Amino acid sequence: MSDEPKPSNSTPRVRENEDPNEGNRPLPWFLVMSLGAMAMWGAFYIVSTPSGEDSAFGDQRTVASLRPPVVLAGAAATVDGKQVYGAKCAACHQGSGLGVAGVFPPLAASEWVIGDEKILANILLHGVNGEMVVKGITYIGAMPAWKSLSDDELAALLTYIRSDWGNAAPPIKLETITSQRELTKARTEPYAGGSSIKPDS
Ligand code: HEC
Repeated sequence: MSDEPKPSNSTPRVRENEDPNEGNRPLPWFLVMSLGAMAMWGAFYIVSTPSGEDSAFGDQRTVASLRPPVVLAGAAATVDGKQVYGAKCAACHQGSGLGVAGVFPPLAASEWVIGDEKILANILLHGVNGEMVVKGITYIGAMPAWKSLSDDELAALLTYIRSDWGNAAPPIKLETITSQRELTKARTEPYAGGSSIKPDS
């Protein structure tokens, strides 16, 4: 038996390097700061963005800001009166403005169209249900009320019907519609006929 120590099983392990240690490294401060800043900006953006708009716009434009600007007051109208006429009136009064004999009265050369602008505005705002004489012919029909059109649309529409088909009456101003709407706001029924249409009631 020799007294030389028997090579132990552990000897090779002593020679090995230590297991690597990950240590405890904190996030760099500038990263923490910029994450915090982004979170604060996000919160601010959510709070400061108006809600209730179509999210498809993706920014702070509203439906109104996407519409073409409405410039009115007689002269330069961007509401197209002829287009409103085609959509709302032509079915009865026809594109020609001549109406349908015995059923829908003509607007071309009609004394109502080229006459008193207040009465014309009232006809449109409240409608007529009863006897109405147009160019010597009595109509007994129902003209619907067009209250639901905006003042801009009504002004452009009436300006249009006063200027096509040989009509040559001055334009109708936006203010005329606004004030007639206000003046006759108590009325809930259509006029009972041509003779009952008053400028102020
Ligand atoms: C459903 C059919 C109908 C539609 C739509 C209609 N009207 Fe009329 N309108 C009539 C009838 C019917 C009368 C005659 C009323 C009566 O007999 O009491 C009339 C009368 C009128 C009058 C007075 C009489 C004349 O011929 O000048 C004007 C002005 C008028 N309409 C304009 C319009 C305009 C502008 C529109 C579009 C916003 C329109 N109407 C849409 C049926 C219609």
